[in-house]
Amino acid sequence: MGKSKVLVVGGTGYIGRRIVKASLAQGHETYVLQRPDIGLDIDKLQMLLSFKKQGAHLIEASFSDHHSLVEAVKRVDVVICTISGVHFRSHNITMQLKLVDAIREAGNVKRFLPSEFGIDPARMENALEPGRVTFDEKMVVRRAIQEAKIPFTYVSANCFAGYFAGNLSQMVTLLPPKEKVCIYGDGNVKVVFMDEDDIATYTIKTIDDPRTINKTVYLRPPENILTQRQLVEIWEKLAGKQLEKVHIPNDQFLATMKEMDYAGQVGVGHFHHIFFEGCLTNFEIGEGQEEASKLYPEVKYTRMDDYLKQYL
Ligand SMILES: NC(=O)c1ccc[n+]([C@@H]2O[C@H](COP(=O)([O-])OP(=O)(O)OC[C@H]3O[C@@H](n4cnc5c(N)ncnc54)[C@H](OP(=O)(O)O)[C@@H]3O)[C@@H](O)[C@H]2O)c1
Repeated sequence: MGKSKVLVVGGTGYIGRRIVKASLAQGHETYVLQRPDIGLDIDKLQMLLSFKKQGAHLIEASFSDHHSLVEAVKRVDVVICTISGVHFRSHNITMQLKLVDAIREAGNVKRFLPSEFGIDPARMENALEPGRVTFDEKMVVRRAIQEAKIPFTYVSANCFAGYFAGNLSQMVTLLPPKEKVCIYGDGNVKVVFMDEDDIATYTIKTIDDPRTINKTVYLRPPENILTQRQLVEIWEKLAGKQLEKVHIPNDQFLATMKEMDYAGQVGVGHFHHIFFEGCLTNFEIGEGQEEASKLYPEVKYTRMDDYLKQYL
């Protein structure tokens, strides 16, 4: 059986561009949605043109033109959506309902991977306001996919290292702190940090794999399951410098929400669930679910000591 043809929707995005690259690298005929709505965004257009140079096909379609979306998805076997879902950038998770409608009408798509790539929303029924909006909206999309009987894979990618490891899990910065590091509670809750290119590699591995159909695939490679303290220790060793540790109790951390804008409040809620509750690791991967590094042991995933070297 040949490799599936893949359409990436949201291909110029932070994770989307890596998924386009991984799809090409793994030999899939790769299509990228080109939205006329991008207007004068020269950077996006240049990125799309660079995908074309690397062998991808650009397909013009718009979320405001249902017919164009149907025609786009008819040309492929697999659709991967990486539409935005981070509040301080932009947040368009429920726009995927239009894509679900188009996939249902087209009727040919063998697998749909919606924009997930984070905490498993199915486990977040009791998440805090206002951050729960991310999980609630992702669940709305899941229900629409399942009602339309579209075969799916949900990729639960845990913490993107660029947002959570490079800054040693500090909020409001992407760089490692120089003197003091804020530690959530005792800093001993287990978290999973993932290099974004590895997320893309694993994601593409799942699409033609019968073991992952209609399942959630967690990216939880064993050496990347680390506590915040372990992450800080890795950095201190690389940098050759000890940081002052400032421990923040949960209630004090949650109280910081009061001074924050909406996007910041969403972030505090997510950090609370990850670093205090341990929502990424406080469950076993069970029936109807898979773990990516077990399925694909051939992937040499990036460890955080390697990842962090780029910040030295
Ligand atoms: N686990 C983590 O740590 C983590 C971190 C960040 C994100 N995520 C998740 O990853 C997913 C993707 O997030 P991201 O940060 O990669 O997204 P992003 O870069 O902010 O945006 C991705 C793409 O969304 C599309 N888009 C934005 N506004 C749109 C609109 N109005 N109409 C149609 N398309 C629009 C654009 O696609 P075009 O290319 O077509 O312009 C954009 O390139 C989300 O589900 C998010 O929750 C997880």
